[in-house]
Amino acid sequence: MSNRYAVVLAAGQGTRMKSKLYKVLHPVGGKPMVQHVIDHVKKLNINSIVTVIGHGAELVKAQLGEESSYVLQEKQLGTAHAVMQATDILKDKEGITIVVCGDTPLIKATTMEALFKHHEETSAKATILTAWTNDPTGYGRIIRNEDGSVEKIVEHKDATNEERLVKEINTGTYCFDNKALFDALSKVSNDNVQGEYYLPDVIEILKNAGEIVTAYQTEDFEETLGVNDRVALAEAERIFKERTNEWHMRNGVTIIDPSSTYIGPDVEIGQDTILYPGTILAGGTVIGEDCIIGPQTEIHNCKIGNGTSIRQSAAYDSEIGSEVAIGPFAHIRPQSNIHDDVKIGNFVEIKKAVFGKGSKASHLSYIGDAEVGSNVNIGCGSITVNYDGKNKYLTKIEDNVFIGCNSNLVAPVRVGEGAYVAAGSTITHDVPGEALAIARAKQVNKEDYVSKLNSKKK
Ligand code: UD1
Ligand code: CA
Repeated sequence: MSNRYAVVLAAGQGTRMKSKLYKVLHPVGGKPMVQHVIDHVKKLNINSIVTVIGHGAELVKAQLGEESSYVLQEKQLGTAHAVMQATDILKDKEGITIVVCGDTPLIKATTMEALFKHHEETSAKATILTAWTNDPTGYGRIIRNEDGSVEKIVEHKDATNEERLVKEINTGTYCFDNKALFDALSKVSNDNVQGEYYLPDVIEILKNAGEIVTAYQTEDFEETLGVNDRVALAEAERIFKERTNEWHMRNGVTIIDPSSTYIGPDVEIGQDTILYPGTILAGGTVIGEDCIIGPQTEIHNCKIGNGTSIRQSAAYDSEIGSEVAIGPFAHIRPQSNIHDDVKIGNFVEIKKAVFGKGSKASHLSYIGDAEVGSNVNIGCGSITVNYDGKNKYLTKIEDNVFIGCNSNLVAPVRVGEGAYVAAGSTITHDVPGEALAIARAKQVNKEDYVSKLNSKKK
């Protein structure tokens, strides 16, 4: 197999996005567009990936890290000019270079692999990935000769009315013989409507030099969608969602309403899990089998066991075990570790807390910076008082403890194994195991108070 190189074009300002955020960093399915492209390109056995970034694109570098090397395109003078920035790194290499735009997040690795294959089989110096669409507005058009061979690419803005009728478009992805590419780049001019150096002009230059130029048409126009504005961004999100949801459904996940269910590209879901409408699963979330998630539930970066239900709730950066019941209306904040058989009920917030097996906080609680043992019952309205305005402190609740309703546990504090805290207590000192702690004012009943009061009024 020939050496393979990749150039990812990501320096364009994305004027049409009207955004402070660099275009290729806009997320689709929760992941920046350029990261999608790099993730797919990485599957192609590439010797080296070069990403072309623009001024102030430190954020792109920060996103992609070591996965690519970078070249800076100071001024965005066009896609050919962008590729030229990789001259020093690539010019002398023998092999095939794939060029991909950072704003085509839906392109599949299998399609790019097929493009490489076609390129090699036809011994071409350049192969264009093309697609057919009913509405080619804005895309470069593929102009073919009468014998069907590719003649050139004409940009929408430069095209004649007749050329605009062509429905085969340039997807912006190409394979080139690397040396032929860099030779041809030096011959590209900016004599066109936009005054830019167009990469597609390389096709005509190679053709005129008598080289073989071919096209490989993918059947799926949707995967080649170029995102230039927020309308296309929403379109990309829709296509990504449909694709991802279909994949999970074919894999054994029930999705009640795929149109309102959003699953990130790196999420894993076990068989027979059911997703109800309004579910958003993001980041590196991994969900086991037989779970019930949603409706209206957001989960980011959580690892969840089997048979767990999470309804109308939000959970972030936490581990949640098997057979756990969460919600409705619970909030699981980062660094929580909820073990098996736990119940977290309505209006309960958990933050940076371990919850041991079989423990329950069924209603209206805040448990933060805490270690809760197993089989603990936290009564309605009880909270850990973890913050004194400056520092956070730990609450330890050992196994088999019963915390009565509406208790305050003022941290740092420890409630020993098997202890009881009476309802309404404000606990400021450690409670020994097996003890009963009552920390509330004693009740005083004033007999006949009301009748005395009434007689005074008369
Ligand atoms: C480009 C193609 C068009 C094709 C379409 C597919 C050209 C001239 N036109 O048009 O034929 O149908 O993609 O989506 O290539 N970029 C740079 N530096 C620049 C200019 C652009 O890095 O100086 C990057 C952008 O960040 C983007 C990509 O190149 O990722 C494409 O640029 P864009 O301006 O979006 O080109 P289109 O008008 O979409
Ligand atoms: Ca584009």
